[in-house]
Amino acid sequence: MTESVSVLFVCLGNICRSPTAEGVFRQVVEQAGLADRIRIDSCGTGHWHVGKTPDARAQQAASQRGVDISQLRARQFQESDLVDFDRVLVMDKQNLSDTLRVWERVGGAKPELFLSYGRSGHDEVPDPYYGGDQGFEVVLDLINEASEGLLAKLRESLR
Ligand code: 4NP
Repeated sequence: MTESVSVLFVCLGNICRSPTAEGVFRQVVEQAGLADRIRIDSCGTGHWHVGKTPDARAQQAASQRGVDISQLRARQFQESDLVDFDRVLVMDKQNLSDTLRVWERVGGAKPELFLSYGRSGHDEVPDPYYGGDQGFEVVLDLINEASEGLLAKLRESLR
């Protein structure tokens, strides 16, 4: 049992999938009345987009579902994230191996595939960056579904 819990979403660029997960999950948490007990952030394993706003297509797709991610800015994953956050949820297996390599050295929160909390049968959120707009809808569907499962899990420790 704990007063509060922190969650970090990780992808490659921190401009498509993980900021979408941050925005969607924040909305789910706010609707559950738990905003003051769950801290949420996102980052990318890569450095290319540091300081940038989310991809325009990600902003548009999220906005159509009532989620505003326009204020988010990309940052890079760092070792201390594994100590600063209780749960580290990654979008794909490449993110997982990249962050697990750090975890093996520094310990802390062991990175997990975000979709392990969903029931879609998928284990990765596909990278939509080089595809069309439909890819961003798939990302939102998968993230929505896993967010419900993640919240249910966090509620167990918050009770
Ligand atoms: P994300 O998508 O990891 O979901 O933010 C990507 C964004 C940018 C790049 C790759 C994936 N990129 O190669 O620049």
